[in-house]
Order: sequence, then C-alpha cells, then structure tokens
Amino acid sequence: MAIAENESKILHFAGESRIMNTPHAIRQTDFTFEGQTGFYRGKVRDVYYFGDLMAMVATDRISAFDVILPRAIPDKGRVLNIIAARNLEATRDVVPNWVIDTPDPNVTIGYRCEPFAVEMVVRGYLAGHAWREYRSGKRTLCGVPLPDGLKENDPLPHPIITPTTKAKTGHDQDISRDEILAQGIVSERDYVRLEDYTLRLFQRGTELAARRGLILVDTKYEFGTYKGEIRLIDEVHTPDSSRYFYADGYRERQEKGEPQRQLSKEFVRQWLIENGFQGKEGQTVPEMTDEVVERIAARYRELYEQVLGEPLPEIDTRGILDRIERNIVNSIKSVNLEARI
Ligand SMILES: Nc1ncnc2c1ncn2[C@@H]1O[C@H](COP(=O)(O)OP(=O)(O)O)[C@@H](O)[C@H]1O
Ligand SMILES: [Mg+2]
Repeated sequence: MAIAENESKILHFAGESRIMNTPHAIRQTDFTFEGQTGFYRGKVRDVYYFGDLMAMVATDRISAFDVILPRAIPDKGRVLNIIAARNLEATRDVVPNWVIDTPDPNVTIGYRCEPFAVEMVVRGYLAGHAWREYRSGKRTLCGVPLPDGLKENDPLPHPIITPTTKAKTGHDQDISRDEILAQGIVSERDYVRLEDYTLRLFQRGTELAARRGLILVDTKYEFGTYKGEIRLIDEVHTPDSSRYFYADGYRERQEKGEPQRQLSKEFVRQWLIENGFQGKEGQTVPEMTDEVVERIAARYRELYEQVLGEPLPEIDTRGILDRIERNIVNSIKSVNLEARI
C-alpha cells in the first residue's frame, strides 16, 4: 500500500480546511505492477523496471550531501520531473535520450539503459565544490588545470568537465579523464563521445537558461547505452542536478564581491551547514519544522516559474498516488502495444 506524508493527519482532521489544504508530499511509493521485473529506490526517485523499460517516479524526497532529509517537500517531485522532461525534449536533437513518455507530472517512462559508471559534471563558472577546492589552493580539478587569480563565481575561460565516479554508497568521488581511461571505467572511444555530448548539452543548456534570464553555472549529465547506442539518461538541467544564477546584476555583484543570487539546492545546503550538518560522520540532520519545509517548497516553486517561465499548475492532491499508479499502468500498456504494432 502506498504511503504519503500527511495522510494520517488528513484522515484524522478530515473536514478541517487548514489541514485539508496542506498538500500531500510523496515520501515514497510502493506499487506492484503487472509485468514489473524489478524496483530501485534511489535517494529521490522510485524506479520500476519492466524488462527494458522503466518508470521513474520523482518523489518529494530531498537529499543533500548524499543524505535523504527526514521530511519530504510538497511539489518538489513534480517540479523536478517537469523541468527534466522539458529539458530532455529541448536537447533531443543534441543527443538521443531515454524518454518515451511523461504520463504524469511525477513520472517519466523510457528505456532502461546500461549506465556508464561516471557522472559528467560540467562547469562554466567557479562555484560550489570547485570553488572550495580552488580556495584550498588546488589549481587542478579532476586533472583540469585552473588559472590563478579567480574569485568565487567567476566565469572559467571555457567550460570544463570534472567527472565523478558513481559511488554505489557514500559520496561520489572526483576522478580525472586519465584515471577513467586507465581504470577502464569507460572506453576511450565512448568517453570521447560523452565529452562531446556533455559540452554540446551544456552549450544548449546555457542558451535555454539565458532565455529565462538565468546563467547555467554547472550541471551534471548521466549517460547509458541502449542496444549499443549512447543515450542521455536521468534528469537534465534540474535544480537538483544544476546550479543557476540570475543573470541580471551578475557582473555588478561579481565586481563588488557580493554573493550571487542562486537558483539551486544550495539554499538547502546552506541551511544545513548553518545548523551544523555537512553530511559528515556523527553529525545529525537538524529538525525540519513545518516552516522550514514550507520555505524549501516555496523555493522549488519559484525555481519552476523562473526556469520554465510559467506558473506551477495548481493540482488536486487527493488520491495523488492512485493517479500516479494509474498513469504508469496506462503508459506502459500503450508503449508495449505500440512496440508490437
Ligand atoms: N534510463 C535509465 N536507465 C537506467 N538507469 C537510469 C536511467 N535514468 C536514470 N537512471 C538511474 O535511476 C536512478 C534515479 O534515482 P535517484 O533518486 O537519482 O537515485 P540515486 O540515489 O542512485 O542517485 C539513478 O541511480 C540513475 O542513475
Ligand atoms: Mg541521482
């Protein structure tokens, strides 16, 4: 049986409008489908396998520093899924991707690919992890040399690829191109393709962001193969996989040495750090009050509107899990049907 956060509250207080208006947050799904061949619960997404197809449900879970936070964020799942779907569609001409159908605001259906064991991180600016490394004195990142004299959030001379390993557990690790090839994690022939795709996707992402008054600072792509062909998988240009700045006033803020206006999960990381949590051994996640949850939810809604340039549609959150389940069943059925014609 599927569970949603607040469900018990809603049953208990049925009829009381304040509680009824609290949107459902989808903490996890527990469906069992006819024809299902497997299941994977990721940090954020629940994945149902159907042979060489899969249904990826974006839940409202939120992770930071590779830890799943104790409370789910209403609307976060559909914000992510819709942004990813739009960007996958808008990059289809650059690289083939895994998507066949988006039958529900929280669901994407597509080809189950054999993932490459690296994440292709690409950066146009010196921010986040790259800045922290640079600040500590490093002048090469993942084997890529960095010039002296840069400040936090400065543009890099050209976009750089700083890959990470896809750790099964724990934190992803920086890795260089040479190590990836030496360890045979990806063949040179494939890796050259991944690099080319990554840079061209980042170029497209930068153009798409610019139309919305945003700067795509950095992002990561995952790739896999399906029947021998390289495809872009997972989510693309979402706030969970990317960092955006507001373009307006960027230069002035850099000149004055002021922080940039960020549109990313960074505000969640900041809140955690301020409350003594950086994902290290022995640290505990601070308590997430209703107010904190609502503040994070509001940021995700703002993100949606900024990145897509339209308001997040209001939805009826009752029966949300039944809706998701039904939409998966129907989509898988019609995809299978089409395959047989
Ligand atoms: N088309 C695909 N084929 C196979 N695996 C995929 C595909 N798209 C995404 N994935 C994988 O599905 C998972 C999505 O769930 P997520 O919550 O991101 O999990 P994780 O905690 O592993 O990052 C990821 O592990 C991602 O690599
Ligand atoms: Mg992931």
